Amino acid sequence: MNITVIGTGYVGLVTGACFSKMGNKVYCVDIVEEKIEGLKNNILPIFEPHLGSLVKSSQERGDLIFTTDIKEALDDTNIIFIAVGTPMAEDGSANLDYIFSAASDIANNITKDSLVVIKSTVPVGTGEKVKEHINNILKENNSQVKISMASNPEFLKEGHAIEDCLHPDRVVIGAEEKEVFETLKDLYSQFVLNHDRFVLMDIKSSEMTKYVANAMLATKISFMNEIANICEVTGADVQNVRRGIGSDKRIGYDFIYAGCGYGGSCFPKDVQALISTAQSNGYEPKILANVELVNKNQKMVLVNKVVDRFGEDLTGLTFAVWGLAFKPGTDDVREATSLVVISELIKRGAKIKAYDPQATEEFIRTIDDEYLDSIEFAKGRYEIIEGSDALILITEWKEFRNPDFDYFAETMNQKVIFDGRNIYYKKILNNKGFELYQIGC
Ligand SMILES: NC(=O)c1ccc[n+]([C@@H]2O[C@H](COP(=O)([O-])OP(=O)(O)OC[C@H]3O[C@@H](n4cnc5c(N)ncnc54)[C@H](O)[C@@H]3O)[C@@H](O)[C@H]2O)c1
Repeated sequence: MNITVIGTGYVGLVTGACFSKMGNKVYCVDIVEEKIEGLKNNILPIFEPHLGSLVKSSQERGDLIFTTDIKEALDDTNIIFIAVGTPMAEDGSANLDYIFSAASDIANNITKDSLVVIKSTVPVGTGEKVKEHINNILKENNSQVKISMASNPEFLKEGHAIEDCLHPDRVVIGAEEKEVFETLKDLYSQFVLNHDRFVLMDIKSSEMTKYVANAMLATKISFMNEIANICEVTGADVQNVRRGIGSDKRIGYDFIYAGCGYGGSCFPKDVQALISTAQSNGYEPKILANVELVNKNQKMVLVNKVVDRFGEDLTGLTFAVWGLAFKPGTDDVREATSLVVISELIKRGAKIKAYDPQATEEFIRTIDDEYLDSIEFAKGRYEIIEGSDALILITEWKEFRNPDFDYFAETMNQKVIFDGRNIYYKKILNNKGFELYQIGC
């Protein structure tokens, strides 16, 4: 099949690369020339394991074409995926400017009947509005072209995106016409060879499904973080509680880890957008509003622990921070806890030395410039330990899991560790003379 993917971010690039791996001819279109030029030379704008080799081999075979010229792409394809960003608007709703701009680009350049599939996460009813928008422009242009619409939300996880895309748990397709379901089932059949994982439904339910998946996962995290805070004030250990409840099959072990708050490009904005959708339809959601509130407070938990230990004035103290990405396996720092913790400590006079295996550049681009003078970035994890007054672990990259604590003991000013992801063992560290502060235990 010949496919256009509009938007070459985490979703568009991964989707395009995976479709092309299966032998489809894929045009990946973006409006950022620099990004497309880089991609033509196999320079990726993001870090995602295995993506580089996939892009390179598909380009070499001629199955993956990068372009800023949407007309070139639409002339040669009849399935168009929209995978542009839907960031949070000021009022918490989803900003659909990129979606409608992509829709206009399609309408103004399309020359043959095509299927338009929205892969971006969009509020209920967007598919309908996009179809109307495209049809209005086609009418103004006296075009005879007909378009069909579908919703096909993406469930990939950054850091595991290729694996998730090639072996999806399920493929949700929302459409109105039987032929549309058949076309998309054909396209995805190579990804679900061992058993049928299609979930077919109407477009609105498909749009809603994506938000509900993210809201459910965010709720599990915030619920467990709230339990962690209750454990702390009562003397229970949330790690034991987690094991105790996870063994119940109805609950399960996934997404019940306490920590220092969720971030990323999806959970915070999608929970907010779902709240906004509910409110604009006259329903006031109660649980969702508190999922966000708990998370906002949880991003301050490490700061509060530092202040409890060192006092409100942190002048003269240096903190080593391990992990800037919102989670391991990605360079994405959107809504990352590191942004909150580091800026709050600097406001109180602290100096920061920071290390992340992948996300340093993105972090420098994202954090307010006013904080940069107080942060020293390192290329290796041990470089920042010597002379620090405490280590703060924010992102649980594997290389942080079993470090040389004897080196820490020899070189740190004070043997203090704040473990924001509960990856260290209290007994071991206490035996080595460290103070260890964790979440909920
Ligand atoms: N990142 C994730 O893990 C993830 C997972 C599932 C779903 N989603 C959803 O997928 C969508 C895309 O997310 P992302 O993280 O890939 O976004 P992103 O911001 O990384 O990438 C979006 C890309 O679209 C491009 N773009 C914007 N307008 C364009 C236009 N008119 N024509 C061509 N290109 C255009 C931008 O230049 C950018 O490269 C969002 O709705 C998001 O919520 C994201």
